[in-house]
Formats: sequence, structure tokens, C-alpha cells
Amino acid sequence: MSTSQNFIIFGATGKQGGAAVRWLSRSDANIIIHAVTRDPSSPKAQSISSLPKVKLIQGDASAAEGVFSQIEGKIAGIFFVNVGYDATAQIQEGKAIIDLAKRYEVNHFVFSSTDYNGHRNKETGIASIEAKKNIEDHLIASGMRHTVIRPVGFLENLFLPGYTDAIPHFWPAQLLKSGIAADDIGRAISEILLNPNEFEGKVIGLSGYEGVPQDWIDTWQDATGENLREREKKMSGGMDEERMKLLKFIMFNQNDARVAETKAIFPWVKDLRTFLQETK
Ligand SMILES: NC(=O)c1ccc[n+]([C@@H]2O[C@H](COP(=O)([O-])OP(=O)(O)OC[C@H]3O[C@@H](n4cnc5c(N)ncnc54)[C@H](OP(=O)(O)O)[C@@H]3O)[C@@H](O)[C@H]2O)c1
Repeated sequence: MSTSQNFIIFGATGKQGGAAVRWLSRSDANIIIHAVTRDPSSPKAQSISSLPKVKLIQGDASAAEGVFSQIEGKIAGIFFVNVGYDATAQIQEGKAIIDLAKRYEVNHFVFSSTDYNGHRNKETGIASIEAKKNIEDHLIASGMRHTVIRPVGFLENLFLPGYTDAIPHFWPAQLLKSGIAADDIGRAISEILLNPNEFEGKVIGLSGYEGVPQDWIDTWQDATGENLREREKKMSGGMDEERMKLLKFIMFNQNDARVAETKAIFPWVKDLRTFLQETK
């Protein structure tokens, strides 16, 4: 009998990591999914704990050695995404986890970064985006086998305050903007972790849908019956200054990722209509 492959998923109760755990747990491969959470008793952690092949690990990106040291045997792959509000801490945590992965001779490191909207080599003034550049650079310099994914904005954002209001009232009419379902990000992470030889060294933009604001409005109307143009013009939704800066940056710059390029690798990515139909 072959030994199980160990995978560590940071952010396992979150949107990307949670979807990765669910997709990995459906695979036929002989694997153990070590799902990292700060609180194994939380409802989100409990909802993944009963999935096949999943083992919860109590831990945190800020004290990652405690996570690595709990794994028996070699670690085949890690998924990491930086979270939290403190960008300096995110950089420290990301770099420390990369260094630990190297020390523990992890076979493959998958990092979820972001779409840079044309600013990979230009300062954005947005700490959370600059943090991702730092972590990407550290990963490349580590020499470890790795894959970087760069998702565009999540389609799930549409259900957060402010986003759908922004489409008709603030997005420039000719600007093509993109979206990706978090579930599809998880599916991509799962495929990448299970097939390291196919994906190593790649930087993959993830986009499932792109359109100018009118396309988003028409699709929203078809799928939900709601006319976004009739919504009140408001773009605050109680956002703090940094978040508002990020939203404006996203709204006024075109994404790097193209749907056709993502589909050439992951042909199953969902467009907006399918996402809304499935989410209803
Ligand atoms: N939203 C978008 O449109 C978009 C687009 C591109 C990239 N991104 C990037 O995606 C990342 C977020 O990924 P996600 O949405 O999958 O994560 P998430 O769902 O916000 O969080 C993932 C998990 O991290 C843990 N966590 C949350 N806050 C934490 C904190 N302050 N300190 C330590 N752990 C914390 C929580 O798990 P436990 O409580 O179980 O420990 C949470 O379930 C960000 O870096 C963001 O920039 C987002």
C-alpha cells in the first residue's frame, strides 16, 4: 500500500482554502489534507472536519512551525494565502512559511497572490497588494518548486455592500473587468497540488468572466431580474480608507488575467451567469 501524500492548507476555513479543501477531499488520490485553522471548534472548521481525507490542525500563519511539526512524514504540497489587515505581518508570515517549507523539504508550494491590474512592476500604494509582491519574490528566490496563482476579484464580492452599486455608477463604461468564483479558485488549487509536474514554475491568472459594466448589468438582470441601474448611488458601505483605496484601484485599472488564457488551462471556470444561477 502506498503512503498517503500530506498536503497543508492554510486559510482552510476561508473562501479559497475552504474551496481547495472541498475539491481535494473529492479526489481519488491517497492524500491527507491538513486543514489549518485557529479554532477547530468554529462552525466553519467543523463543516470541513467531516469531509473525507481532512484532518484539522489547530494553528496559525503567525506560528507556522507548530503546524509543520505536527505532520508525520514528507509534505507533498502547501497552499498558502496571506490574510489579515496588517501588511507587514503578512509579509513576515509569508516569508517565514516559505522558509519553513524549504527547511521541511516540501515538494511544492502554491501561493495565491492577486491580479495586479497592470501594476506588478509599478507601486500601487496599497499595502496588501505590495505585500503579495514581496511574498511572490521571496518564493521565487527560495528556489523551491512552486506555483503562483493570481485571482481577479471574487464573484462572491457582488454580495458584499458597495460592489453592485459600484458597477453602474462608478466603473468606467469601456473598462473590461473580470471576476472568478472562489469555488473555481479552490478547484484550480486542488488540480495544481495534485499535479505538481504540470504546474511548477507557472504564474497563472485566474479569471472566469470579463465584461464592461453594461455586460455585468445585463447578465445580472437576466439572472436575478434586478436592474442595477435602479439602485441607489452609494459607494461607501462602511468601508475603511484602505479598503476604499483598494476598491478604487480595482475599479479604474484593467485586469491582467484574460478569461481565454485561464480557460486554456482550466476550461471549467464559471462565467457570471453560471455563477449567479448556481448561487441563487
Ligand atoms: N476578495 C477578492 O476579490 C480577492 C481577489 C484576489 C485576491 N484576494 C486575496 O485573497 C486573500 C484572502 O483569501 P480568502 O478570501 O480565501 O481568505 P478569508 O476567507 O478571508 O480567510 C481565510 C481564513 O484565514 C483565517 N483568518 C482570517 N483573518 C485572519 C487573521 N486576521 N489572522 C489570522 N488568520 C485569519 C480564518 O481562518 P480561521 O479563523 O479558521 O483561522 C479564515 O477563514 C487576501 O490576501 C486577498 O487580498 C482577494
